[in-house]
Amino acid sequence: MPVICLASPKGGVGKTTMSANLAHALQRAGRRVLAIDLDPQNALRLHFGVPLEDTGGFMARLTAGVDPGGALRETASGVALLPHGALDMASSLALAVAIERNPEQITAPLRRLMADPGLVIIIDTPPGPSHALAAVIPLVDTFVAVLLADAASTALLPQVETGAFLGQGTLASLFASRLRIIINQVDQASRLSFTAAEAVARHLGPKLLGAVARDEAMSEALAYQRLLLDFAPASRAATDLGAIAQALVALLPTPVAASQPAAGPPPLLDPSRWGQRSW
Ligand SMILES: Nc1ncnc2c1ncn2[C@@H]1O[C@H](COP(=O)(O)OP(=O)(O)OP(=O)(O)O)[C@@H](O)[C@H]1O
Ligand SMILES: [Mg+2]
Repeated sequence: MPVICLASPKGGVGKTTMSANLAHALQRAGRRVLAIDLDPQNALRLHFGVPLEDTGGFMARLTAGVDPGGALRETASGVALLPHGALDMASSLALAVAIERNPEQITAPLRRLMADPGLVIIIDTPPGPSHALAAVIPLVDTFVAVLLADAASTALLPQVETGAFLGQGTLASLFASRLRIIINQVDQASRLSFTAAEAVARHLGPKLLGAVARDEAMSEALAYQRLLLDFAPASRAATDLGAIAQALVALLPTPVAASQPAAGPPPLLDPSRWGQRSW
C-alpha cells in the first residue's frame, strides 16, 4: 500500500537509478515491491535486466485502452515491474494530453494496486513537471527528491524543500511534509562537491534521507543491466543505498500479512503469480 515517488525538478540526478536500487533494497529487506515507470524514457526496466527488445509497458497500454496489469514483468530481483513502454513522439504527446484531461487513467489502476496492503509501490517519474507526476501526487505517501551535490541542484533547493515543484501555496506545504531528500553523486575528493553536500545536509536536517557517493560501480551496474546490490555489494554506493533503504523502511507502515484479503475490487496484479518471470 505505501506509495513512494521519486521526483526532481532537475534531470539526470539519479531518480531512475535510485528507484530501481531502492526497490531492490526494500525487496531484500523482506517487502513485496512493485516499481512503476511513468517516464517515457522507459529506462527503469534497464536496471532490472529487461531485454532491450521488450518495449511493452504500462503507460503505452493506457493509450490503447488495454488493462495495464498485463504489462507486468516479474524480474529476477523479485521486484515486480510495470515498465512505461516505448512510445513515439506523437503517442507520447497524446498520452500526456489524455492524462491531463483524465488523470483517473493513471490513478484508477494505481488505486487498485494500492488495495494490496502488503505491497510497497515505488514510482519513477520524468524530470520536472509532467501530467503523469501531477496525476499521482495526491496518492503518494512519501516523495523522495534527488539532488546532486552541485551548484545547480543547490540553487533548486528552495523549490524542492518547500514542495513548490509539486504544487502551489498550501498544497505545496502539504506535499513538503511528505518529502525527503537524497543527495546523490557526492564526491569526497572534490572540494566543491563535498562542501555543497555538507551545506545542503546541514540545511535539510531531518528531511535528508541520505547521501550517495559518486561511484563508477553505479554506472557499470547499469551497463550490465544489473542492480547495484547484486553487481557490487561491497561498493561505497551500495553501502549508502543500504542505509537509505533502512531509513525508508522506518517511514513505512509495518507490513500486513499477505493472506489478508483486501477490501474492494480484486487486485490488479494476481499475487499468486509473483515470483514467476514472464520473460
Ligand atoms: N551515485 C552515482 N555515482 C555514479 N553515477 C551515478 C550515480 N547515480 C546515478 N549515476 C549515473 O547518472 C546517470 C543519470 O542517472 P539516472 O538516469 O538515474 O538519472 P535520472 O534523474 O533518472 O535522469 P532523468 O531525469 O533523465 O530521468 C546514469 O548514467 C547513472 O548511472
Ligand atoms: Mg530517469
